[in-house]
Amino acid sequence: MRHKLLIVDDDEAIRTQMKWALTQDYDIAQAEDRISAVSTFRAESPAVTMLDLGLPPRTNSPEEGLAALSEILAGDPTAKVIIISGQGEKMNAIQAIGAGAYDFLCKPVDPDELTLLLKRCIYVVELEREYREMQQSRGGELFEEMLGHSAQMQGVFSFIRKVAVTTAPVLLLGESGTGKEMAALAIHRRSPRANGPFIPINCSAIPENLLESELFGHEKGSFTGAHMQRKGLIETASGGTLFLDEIGDLPPTIQVKLLRFLQEQTFQRVGGRQEIQADARVVAATNADLKQATAKGKLREDLYFRLAVVVIKLPPLRDRRDDVIMFAKEFLQRAAAQCDRPKLTFAPDALRAMSSHAWPGNVRELQNRIKRAVIMADGKRITARDLELTDASDMVAPTTLKEAREMAERELVTQALKRHAGRITAAAADLGISRPTLYELIEKLGLGKRDAPETNLPESEASATSNGNEM
Ligand SMILES: Nc1ncnc2c1ncn2[C@@H]1O[C@H](COP(=O)(O)OP(=O)(O)OP(=O)(O)O)[C@@H](O)[C@H]1O
Ligand SMILES: [Mg+2]
Repeated sequence: MRHKLLIVDDDEAIRTQMKWALTQDYDIAQAEDRISAVSTFRAESPAVTMLDLGLPPRTNSPEEGLAALSEILAGDPTAKVIIISGQGEKMNAIQAIGAGAYDFLCKPVDPDELTLLLKRCIYVVELEREYREMQQSRGGELFEEMLGHSAQMQGVFSFIRKVAVTTAPVLLLGESGTGKEMAALAIHRRSPRANGPFIPINCSAIPENLLESELFGHEKGSFTGAHMQRKGLIETASGGTLFLDEIGDLPPTIQVKLLRFLQEQTFQRVGGRQEIQADARVVAATNADLKQATAKGKLREDLYFRLAVVVIKLPPLRDRRDDVIMFAKEFLQRAAAQCDRPKLTFAPDALRAMSSHAWPGNVRELQNRIKRAVIMADGKRITARDLELTDASDMVAPTTLKEAREMAERELVTQALKRHAGRITAAAADLGISRPTLYELIEKLGLGKRDAPETNLPESEASATSNGNEM
């Protein structure tokens, strides 16, 4: 590839001489003063500009040249400008380097020296370009480790940037695996509390009787086994961020205490009477429908409004098709590097299958399927089968009527079960057949557990139909 150079000098003889030396390897543009230099730079985007500092109308001082330099750099901060300075003007050249010029040469310019310097400079230009391209193919820069070039995710990132600097509680909503915990961490890292602790706690994973002391701490002897006083996570998170995950499952007693803490920044340890102050910013998350939880009386409405001062929704992966393939490529690169199989790529059927899959487990599901596929793949390419996403168009064409019928049945039944999360009654109604017929089909087609989506058929159906049993 031939690169373009811009030569800026008011002396036509010098321009011609340089052009003569370089024209074999480069395309040359020329300019003789500041204004034409800047406009030619904009029009031609040369890889390197060679700039004489003494330009008209004041050819004996460097002002015009330095002004041209700063205008060029203002338009393109990565522009490469080599200063060509007159005898005894080294100080000006050094000043230009301080202002962002790449390097300088003294007149009379030695052609060999110039060629060498240009080669080095072009090398840097190419490296920078490669780096930019790499970043673009990765969907731009990561946002605090988070990927996402879809408009939806860019929206989430800009929201996070804005709320991170405040102390307002944030509520993160989104299906499982959409990145709620990552977003919580991003909020913390972008906040003035970034150097303080980030303390996550999963409210649904801790038994009710332990959760209160876990959050608020306890005094010595407050219950059997409380041998000493202990600080809770709210105190530990002071100066930082407390991440309350699965907030929909908070028991009522704890809801009251948490509400008070959100209103007044004070609380009491279990078994204690002293009011304790803590300065923890609360970020909560849930994949449950909190509005419904408040309607049913499971979650206090006043607590809901306190937590939901700012609400950020993490969109499901199926609603941001732009992200799927970009995420997949990035996850493949990471997993392949870990397994020492850097040459692995996706086969076309894998890309197709990923684009049309509904991703009920969102980003986590994508990540897990790829990790597994990297281990399973035999060749250099990951197929839809390696991802356990068998694409209908990938199947072998049927030869008999019986085969064709079976294939169609399999496809329709699998899709219907997926649509209804494994619920037999609904899937049967959708297919226009009776429940026993659907059971028979599932049996005949061998659609065991592996093909059934998330919820397993027998269980979800059992709970809906076993009205004879005690639950
Ligand atoms: N934007 C993203 N960029 C990169 N990785 C992501 C992104 N979103 C999610 N992930 C990855 O997906 C997985 C699930 O993310 P995370 O734990 O944050 O989801 P979650 O919404 O908290 O899920 P759950 O509701 O199941 O707790 C993690 O391994 C995380 O690294
Ligand atoms: Mg989570």
